[in-house]
Amino acid sequence: MRVFVTTTLPDPGAAPLAAAGLEVVQRDALGPPTRAELLAGVADADALLCMLTERVDAELLDAAPRLRVVANYAVGYDNVDVDAATARGVVVTTTPDVLTEATADLTWTLILAVARRVLEGDALVRSGGWTTFGPTMLLGAPVAGRTIGIVGMGAIGTAVARRANGFGMTVLCTSRHPHPGAEAEVGAERVGLDELLTRSDIVTLHAPLTDESRHLIDAAALARMKPTAILVNAGRGPLVDESALVAALAGGTIAAAGLDVYEREPTLTPGLAELPNVVLLPHIGSATTEARGAMVRLCCDNIIAVLAGEPALTPRNSTS
Ligand code: DGY
Repeated sequence: MRVFVTTTLPDPGAAPLAAAGLEVVQRDALGPPTRAELLAGVADADALLCMLTERVDAELLDAAPRLRVVANYAVGYDNVDVDAATARGVVVTTTPDVLTEATADLTWTLILAVARRVLEGDALVRSGGWTTFGPTMLLGAPVAGRTIGIVGMGAIGTAVARRANGFGMTVLCTSRHPHPGAEAEVGAERVGLDELLTRSDIVTLHAPLTDESRHLIDAAALARMKPTAILVNAGRGPLVDESALVAALAGGTIAAAGLDVYEREPTLTPGLAELPNVVLLPHIGSATTEARGAMVRLCCDNIIAVLAGEPALTPRNSTS
């Protein structure tokens, strides 16, 4: 049985698939395949190991008559038409849990980098422009003791909240479904989105991207936030109307932002990269050696299980 792997993987790579006796056809490239390469790759594949950059839709599934499993190398799966896969009996799997702590750490990297103007400080030192200790230099915003609003209280949102507990913060949260256990554990107050936006000093996004959550943070939402507030997005770019964010950051509607994800990756909305009050990272939320390796292993284990006729470890749909 054949597995099409769309890109170069970190360790252990496709070795577990080969060790399980599967034939691996892998693109040796870091970037995503063209659509034509992707369709050709799945034409005779029994399994697909793909990235969030690949659109897995009805057209692709129809071009892959042998396909039994799509292992998406991400916890988010807005790139996959799960209903279309289910209708064709194709199992869709993702990589939950193994990247939770890495992504929460990166979220906090953004929070602290933005609040304390870390990149501006680094640039000043490197440029030779730093001449003396300055009592008025690079004044930032406090984090400890402030209010953080977590949009999306799944595993990653909860892990971000746990870290906020260490900073003595008031934790607000909002999500589609209540998570009473997690909310109680981190002492989060569950509120509506509008209240969360109005009360929070830091708003951080961890909701899945769906038709309902697209542009959840638009011009009206940004206008509800405090002028001193910081917005962080390490979830999915289209949760934010990026043009509205550029206008809000330029016009002082909010103070600053930290982004790991973008509306049209890797293209940025004009004006975003020119703003001094935003920290921009290249979608590296889960990018630790450990997390990325665990994601590879989980994708491989899911494929091996499904092709052996066993249940997937972390399925997103039920095909039986
Ligand atoms: C995910 O898993 O959804 C991230 O965006 C990539 O690790």
